[in-house]
Amino acid sequence: MNVMSTRMRMSGSIVILGLALGVVPVAFGAEAPAAAGTEKCQSCHADVAKAFGSTKHGKAAYYGVQGAGCVSCHGESEKHAGSGDKADAFNPAKADPEKVNETCLECHSKTKALMFWNGSAHSNNELGCVACHSVHGGKDKLLKAADDKAVCFTCHKNVRAAMFARSKHPMRDSSNPKGEGKMTCASCHNPHGSESEKLISAKSVNDKCYECHTEKKAPLLWEHSPVKEDCLTCHAAHGAANDKLLTVRPPRLCQSCHMQGRHQSGTLDVNSVYAIGRSCLNCHPMVHGSNSPSGPVLQR
Ligand code: HEC
Ligand code: HEC
Ligand code: HEC
Ligand code: HEC
Ligand code: HEC
Ligand code: HEC
Ligand code: HEC
Ligand code: HEC
Ligand code: HEC
Ligand code: HEC
Repeated sequence: MNVMSTRMRMSGSIVILGLALGVVPVAFGAEAPAAAGTEKCQSCHADVAKAFGSTKHGKAAYYGVQGAGCVSCHGESEKHAGSGDKADAFNPAKADPEKVNETCLECHSKTKALMFWNGSAHSNNELGCVACHSVHGGKDKLLKAADDKAVCFTCHKNVRAAMFARSKHPMRDSSNPKGEGKMTCASCHNPHGSESEKLISAKSVNDKCYECHTEKKAPLLWEHSPVKEDCLTCHAAHGAANDKLLTVRPPRLCQSCHMQGRHQSGTLDVNSVYAIGRSCLNCHPMVHGSNSPSGPVLQR
């Protein structure tokens, strides 16, 4: 045991020397040393320790970047390491989420993605980091499931239903990352919090939409004022029963604001030119605004 820990200490200093010289410390001999901070645990948890070495945390510990050994999340575990009694161990999956979050945030409060964690909807609802992440069994980004959607759907079933609506953003089929599955929840949300509402990872909903629908941002000669105000006035974000993610179908969509004029109001006859086909859009197709000098009523 003594010999062992001397070897560990020595390899520790070689690591530091290696870093100082700018050399990646790999050539220790046949056997790679365990990550720093795993010594106490690996005698009984060899498999966990070995698997841990290939995760981002394990690598950080190995190179001594932030010393993220077992004890950084499990505490010193003196009693447990002595007794080997399960009841003495600190298992974050079974602990008070707030306490676990504190541990994680000791290192991650400076991670850019977590800048707005405090006060966010998930933080306020006492979600632990381990509600979505698994440090040992995790997939990409240490997520509990192979993609973020599967993680989110464990709680947000209503959004899952929207994926199967008549029109929707292409998020449904994760096995097809170039087609139906090319978007994920993280395309629009930061689950750790954001500077705007609903965890939207942009300054506003419209700024988020413009990231991909850039053409809708261009200044126009004749603007349709609700468009610049909020895309969600007419569109659903996830899915809708109407074409083009519309929350309500024209003419009713348009009539919710335009009831003053002659041809806009009243109960439209089903065969009326104002109701059939594309309804109001038969004559006002430029619903997001027009750049034509003669487009003040969005007709061209
Ligand atoms: C003397 C052997 C021994 C040592 C040393 C040891 N453990 Fe354990 N540990 C065990 C045993 C046995 C279990 C129960 C395993 C089981 O039930 O599958 C366990 C379980 C655990 C659990 C799960 C507890 C639970 O409630 O699910 C954690 C977490 C844990 N150990 C962490 C550590 C950490 C961190 C270290 C090093 C600081 C460590 N152990 C060192 C023997 C040991
Ligand atoms: C970055 C934080 C972190 C580090 C570092 C860490 N663990 Fe864990 N550990 C967790 C979390 C969180 C869980 C709860 C289950 C999960 O998320 O996978 C856990 C669970 C466990 C368990 C319970 C069995 C299981 O797999 O669920 C054991 C045993 C364990 N850790 C041992 C270790 C050992 C040994 C090391 C060092 C080689 C280590 N842990 C390093 C966070 C950490
Ligand atoms: C001792 C510091 C430390 C602690 C404590 C810590 N982490 Fe980390 N974590 C790191 C470092 C360092 C990285 C690697 C950063 C990088 O490569 O950019 C990392 C990376 C991650 C990643 C990204 C993994 C990837 O594949 O990109 C996740 C997710 C993560 N940590 C979650 C957690 C969770 C959850 C906890 C608490 C259970 C936790 N961390 C505790 C230091 C820590
Ligand atoms: C509601 C689910 C959820 C919770 C709760 C959560 N995360 Fe995450 N986390 C994610 C998802 C999803 C990603 C991947 C985001 C992506 O792909 O852009 C991620 C990514 C990360 C990353 C990698 C960031 C990067 O830029 O690569 C770190 C680090 C991280 N999480 C740490 C934490 C910590 C620490 C906590 C607790 C304070 C936490 N997470 C809580 C879902 C969650
Ligand atoms: C463990 C359950 C759980 C998981 C997993 C989870 N959430 Fe949540 N989420 C909640 C709770 C609780 C709330 C707050 C109450 C509510 O609005 O339903 C919430 C709220 C939200 C909100 C609304 C925020 C607001 O300000 O009103 C968004 C957006 C969201 N979650 C996105 C996600 C995404 C994206 C994921 C996957 C990366 C995810 N959630 C995973 C439980 C969860
Ligand atoms: C195209 C961008 C976009 C994508 C992709 C997206 N969302 Fe949203 N999400 C939004 C917007 C915008 C809102 C705000 C809606 C509102 O205020 O009416 C929202 C609201 C939410 C809410 C709170 C309101 C509600 O409907 O419960 C949850 C939860 C949520 N999203 C979860 C998810 C999940 C889970 C995914 C992945 C399956 C996802 N979102 C993908 C843009 C998006
Ligand atoms: C990450 C990129 C991305 C973001 C952000 C985004 N979209 Fe999309 N949007 C797409 C893609 C991809 C399609 C599908 C285009 C296709 O199938 O040709 C689409 C399609 C649409 C459609 C047409 C749907 C249909 O049934 O034809 C509407 C409407 C739409 N988005 C509105 C929005 C709104 C509103 C926002 C902001 C809340 C937004 N989008 C944010 C990528 C994005
Ligand atoms: C006043 C209601 C209204 C507002 C506000 C609105 N849209 Fe639309 N949008 C529509 C209608 C109606 C259609 C269907 C047009 C058609 O079928 O020709 C549509 C279609 C779309 C389409 C698919 C067809 C195309 O033009 O590319 C996208 C993408 C889109 N809108 C994005 C947005 C974005 C992004 C915003 C916010 C900047 C926004 N919309 C604001 C009413 C609106
Ligand atoms: C959220 C309210 C709202 C909705 C929904 C809405 N509009 Fe508008 N619309 C406005 C406002 C406000 C103006 C600017 C009126 C003004 O400047 O007097 C406008 C202007 C117009 C104009 C230009 C006429 C003018 O006087 O400048 C036309 C045409 C028009 N809208 C058609 C439509 C059509 C077609 C729809 C349905 C696809 C629709 N609108 C949906 C609020 C709305
Ligand atoms: C058959 C073509 C046609 C259809 C269908 C149509 N409009 Fe118009 N609309 C026009 C013309 C042409 C003008 C400009 C001349 C005028 O003021 O009558 C106009 C003007 C407008 C204006 C500007 C204010 C005003 O009253 O002059 C608004 C707002 C408007 N329409 C909304 C709508 C809405 C809402 C619908 C659907 C219920 C609709 N339109 C359907 C042709 C049409």
